[in-house]
Amino acid sequence: MTPSPYTPRKFDLKGLHGISDRTLEMHFGLYEGYVKETNRLTEHIHDFLKDGKVDQEEMPAYSELTRRLGFEYNGMILHELYFGNLSRKGSPDPQRGSRFTEAAGASFGSYELWKTDFASVGKMRGVGWAICYLNPSTGRLSNHWITLHEVGNVAGFVPVLVMDVWEHAFLLDYKPAERPKYIEAFFANVDWGAVDARHKAAPREAVRQWAAAG
Ligand SMILES: [Fe+2]
Repeated sequence: MTPSPYTPRKFDLKGLHGISDRTLEMHFGLYEGYVKETNRLTEHIHDFLKDGKVDQEEMPAYSELTRRLGFEYNGMILHELYFGNLSRKGSPDPQRGSRFTEAAGASFGSYELWKTDFASVGKMRGVGWAICYLNPSTGRLSNHWITLHEVGNVAGFVPVLVMDVWEHAFLLDYKPAERPKYIEAFFANVDWGAVDARHKAAPREAVRQWAAAG
């Protein structure tokens, strides 16, 4: 049986600072493409399994579809996380004493140093994402570069802040060389409440261990 298809989520992000409505409309369209492809590939892969086996002659096509599923699936989920941590009521920095500033301070020495690291990851050359993850087994935060959508995600880590740095995320508003300006605009719109909620929803052991370490 083919699993239920994913339905694209809707995000009301009109009026962000420095990221135009036109960019977002285009970006929502791209995101919906990932949802559609994830559904299509899932269906095709289940078609192969209908007779209970993957024949030798089916293996090349099956392999290609399965590899592409990692790209499309991560493209879908990362966009949902990215849109989900933006808000027109966002602010460049979280409130002092918030869950996130405490965690960033415990992991990097200071929130400011965490921010420098995250923004620097975002400025790396290449096509991909900057993501701040929580390690559930230690409670530590770390920032990672993800190539495309699927290369570099850390197994079991919980993404708490996600920034798209593919050029399509800013090309209608900034030149390709102006990625730092886009990163500044991204920060102006961060919904730190959403970031704290993700951190809070992470496995309980992580929070307990982090609290114990503090
Ligand atoms: Fe994107």
